[in-house]
Amino acid sequence: MKMTQKATVQDGTDDTAVVDPSRSGLGPVELELAGVNKVYQARRGRVEALSDVNLSIRRGEFISLVGRSGCGKTTLLRILSGLLPPSSGSVTANGQSIWRGSARNDEALQQVGLVFQEANLFPWFNISDNISLPLKLRGVDRKARAARAEELCELVGLRGFEGAYPRELSGGMRQRAAIARALSSRPSILLMDEPFGALDALTRDKMNLELQSIHAATGATVVFVTHSISEAVFLADRVVLLTPRPGRIRSVTPVSLARPRSADTEASVEFQQIVRGLRVELDEES
Ligand SMILES: Nc1ncnc2c1ncn2[C@@H]1O[C@H](COP(=O)(O)OP(=O)(O)OP(=O)(O)O)[C@@H](O)[C@H]1O
Ligand SMILES: [Mg+2]
Repeated sequence: MKMTQKATVQDGTDDTAVVDPSRSGLGPVELELAGVNKVYQARRGRVEALSDVNLSIRRGEFISLVGRSGCGKTTLLRILSGLLPPSSGSVTANGQSIWRGSARNDEALQQVGLVFQEANLFPWFNISDNISLPLKLRGVDRKARAARAEELCELVGLRGFEGAYPRELSGGMRQRAAIARALSSRPSILLMDEPFGALDALTRDKMNLELQSIHAATGATVVFVTHSISEAVFLADRVVLLTPRPGRIRSVTPVSLARPRSADTEASVEFQQIVRGLRVELDEES
């Protein structure tokens, strides 16, 4: 594994190694991947999707995950979110294994929220009910659900739209509702798979600023998959670059740009240098 700038990687095999993320004030290790491999048994044969992925992520840290199409980013997120068992290796959230063999540990997964590229809202539920659906499934009463939905609408900038239906919202607003839904049961870990990939550039910039605020307000640990290098750098404490299939960690790049970040950040020489460095690495992979 190559490390760019100052080494900040804990490889998961050395418990005494200290992670030194770019942002101070981060908590203990929250999410840990050790020797994670994934092989799909497809009809056309074996597909080795991930190979020996090791990474320790600190509480409150924002990790961007980038790499060529098909390098295993979604596979990794699915393993972290309990949707897909790894073929081998371990994944722990606050010391609890997410997988015990191919059995999912639902207790450990209570700490995890997930956002996909598509908002996947239920068209027949209003925004408040969509956002609070995970709470309903956990038996939370109607009044408490509505109160939490209102709080979350405030957080993601949807105040006043609690009673609206998904069809009445723009794409960006629907994604905000999906983020609010993922946050409804106060997960400490938020996993996001190209959540803004379907949005236009202007809306995407706005969503990046809002995500930054949400991250600051909730203190959540975030793993964010994107195809956009500049988006990855703008949001991250560290950018993890995967190699093409099988996905291995090629490099981990710390981003120590001051927060909160803004359009000025993107104009800075430091930002552009980091982006350029990652683009060169990605080109070397093709
Ligand atoms: N269910 C499956 N069965 C067999 N192979 C699969 C399956 N899901 C994914 N793959 C293969 O595993 C590899 C990694 O896929 P994955 O979806 O994780 O990539 P990705 O990095 O998310 O790509 P993209 O950037 O295009 O979203 C690909 O080669 C893909 O074809
Ligand atoms: Mg994907």
